[in-house]
Amino acid sequence: MNKVVLFGVTQFSSLAWYALKHDSPYDVVGFTVDRSYYHEEFHEDLPVAPFEDIQDVYAPDSVSMLLPLGFHSINGLRRKRYEQALAQGYLMTNYVSSRAITWPSLNVQKNCLIYEGAVVQPFSRVGQNVIIRSNAHISHHCEIGDHVFIAAGVTLGGNVVIGEQSFVGLGAVVRDGVTIAERCFIGAGAVVITDTEADGVYVGNPARKIKRTSLEVTTGLLRGSDEQSGHKFHTHRYVTHKGNDTTCPFGSK
Ligand SMILES: CC(C)(COP(=O)(O)OP(=O)(O)OC[C@H]1O[C@@H](n2cnc3c(N)ncnc32)[C@H](O)[C@@H]1OP(=O)(O)O)[C@@H](O)C(=O)NCCC(=O)NCCS
Repeated sequence: MNKVVLFGVTQFSSLAWYALKHDSPYDVVGFTVDRSYYHEEFHEDLPVAPFEDIQDVYAPDSVSMLLPLGFHSINGLRRKRYEQALAQGYLMTNYVSSRAITWPSLNVQKNCLIYEGAVVQPFSRVGQNVIIRSNAHISHHCEIGDHVFIAAGVTLGGNVVIGEQSFVGLGAVVRDGVTIAERCFIGAGAVVITDTEADGVYVGNPARKIKRTSLEVTTGLLRGSDEQSGHKFHTHRYVTHKGNDTTCPFGSK
């Protein structure tokens, strides 16, 4: 089945659309988004359908789906929509850039996106619904749990375990053998040298745990609804608890 519907109308969705268009056998036929974020009929000149109506618009046996959602709710939103789409009977596709470096032992699972320049070395396992952004380096014998988001430029040493639903931020380094627990948020540029605790937020070198939880830093920052799966990057920004107006480059918050 070559026809694919993408979830979301953010810049991150556009990035996936562009990658699939130029670097995959798939034909993206449209987008879907939560009805509360359904504001425009077209995205990238393709029709947008409310996710609540998706089965009426695209029968599950006529298209597959790909959900390039970010890390909102510590990857919980992507997990939820992924599980809903599976329950509705949609096949989930995946995307591995032709410019990523992978090996035959890699079993790419449903709804995984592995972008250009990423390296996944032999003997590493990547779970379902995982996003690995550009130039991330996953060394040998790593275990990447389900619903994880690895940002651009991350380096994981050998035998690192990334627990389910965790997020590893831009350029972070995780020392070989370290286990990142479930639903952790590893800040940009952090250097993690010891195992972490579930739901923790870790920043700095060496990484230290801050008081806020991973759910707080990935939901509380949003203005308005936390069901932001389709929010428009250029019109919705998020605000840190200190009041700084900032953006995520892929509209994932
Ligand atoms: C961890 C993070 C969520 C914290 O953001 P925040 O809620 O705005 O937190 P604050 O800026 O109030 O920081 C809290 C403390 O941690 C420190 N801190 C925050 N992020 C840090 C980082 N990445 N590295 C080092 N220190 C950091 C701050 O200096 C502050 O220290 P203080 O209490 O001594 O003043 C954010 O900085 C971050 O790293 N986001 C990931 C970005 C990313 O990878 N994006 C990928 C896009 S696809």
